[in-house]
Amino acid sequence: MSASTPAFIPFTRPSFNQETIDAVAEVLRSGWVTSGPKLAEFEATLSQYFGGRPVRCFANGTATMKIALQVAGIGEGDEVITTPISWVATSNVILGVGAKPVFVDVDPVTRNIDLNKIAAAITSKTRAIMPVYLAGLPVNMDQLYALAKEHHLRVIEDAAQAFGSQWNGKKIGSFGDLVSFSFQANKNLSTIEGGCLVLNNVEETALAEKLRLQGLTRQGMDGMDVDVLGGKDNLTDVNAVIGLEQLKQLPTYQARRAALARQYFDVMRSELQSSGLDTLDLELPVENFTETNWHMFQVILPLTQLTVDRAQVMTELKELGIGTGVHYPTITGFTLYKNLGYKTADTPHAERIGRSILTLPLFPAMADEDIGRIVKGLVGILKKYRKN
Ligand SMILES: Cc1ncc(COP(=O)(O)O)c(C=O)c1O
Repeated sequence: MSASTPAFIPFTRPSFNQETIDAVAEVLRSGWVTSGPKLAEFEATLSQYFGGRPVRCFANGTATMKIALQVAGIGEGDEVITTPISWVATSNVILGVGAKPVFVDVDPVTRNIDLNKIAAAITSKTRAIMPVYLAGLPVNMDQLYALAKEHHLRVIEDAAQAFGSQWNGKKIGSFGDLVSFSFQANKNLSTIEGGCLVLNNVEETALAEKLRLQGLTRQGMDGMDVDVLGGKDNLTDVNAVIGLEQLKQLPTYQARRAALARQYFDVMRSELQSSGLDTLDLELPVENFTETNWHMFQVILPLTQLTVDRAQVMTELKELGIGTGVHYPTITGFTLYKNLGYKTADTPHAERIGRSILTLPLFPAMADEDIGRIVKGLVGILKKYRKN
């Protein structure tokens, strides 16, 4: 790279410190690398983090959600209400257990499922609500649980992106029904791949443990039985020890994410104004510095006011050394879902957001100067392609 070429800024990059690398090396040398003492320690630490609720870990967030659905007894013939703006894992696991995802449109401001529209989607087959906290911003948790109580529904929270997020000063996961997190590489807390489920009681916990390892129950030293159909969804000690180290770093990482998000708002507003673009309908995220963990900073491009599409904006940002992402295209637009009869037009806010949402870089190791470069790059492109 020449001195004049600025370094490429990816949309995300995980942070692993030397202590984490040392801890992994120690596990590798220990002779026990799969699920063992470090996993037990990680689960106990997570349980403490969530105020004493039982916690079990799994190989990834997808397996975590699948097991949450199984623990809740959801299967063939059941309906689960969820959002079309999520990683496709959310609805894939619903289909995977034989149930039917019912998509309710999102609130255009929060980009999360519109809780006010859920009641109209409830039928005699509805068993659960599966909300997603996009970019870490929770829904109104009081309203969510009031709705679930009124209609006797389970809640399986897809909190994959919301580790460290809060509601009224309480951590997401420290209250509620079944709460599922992902520890995949770009999450605020990462074990490279992994996930955890916060459960309600010992019965659910025992079932989750069985489901993650072939349905196995142990009785004494030599006794073994299988009484339910389980999979191979356990988390290893190597991943667990990464999680333990990440937990120690989390407050520092979270503070850095929030500081960078704050800068995005400030620089974005002043740059739009000084470029004469303040009338452009570029939508910023909800300016929330108490509840969200700032997992991502996402804007919605004003495509009706531009002569180019999102792909062109992304290509030109990439040419400027700025990585971006799409989180997410509307699930109902995927071929599998279209073939099942779903239509993006049924959820118009999601349809528009899925087409125009753009994730800008945000990760703890980013430099302050990166924000100026990213915003200037984006605003320059918007100016160039603004319709007259
Ligand atoms: C909203 C959401 N749900 C589910 C998942 C699935 O998690 P994983 O990739 O760990 O299987 C992810 C993560 O990618 C996610 O962002």
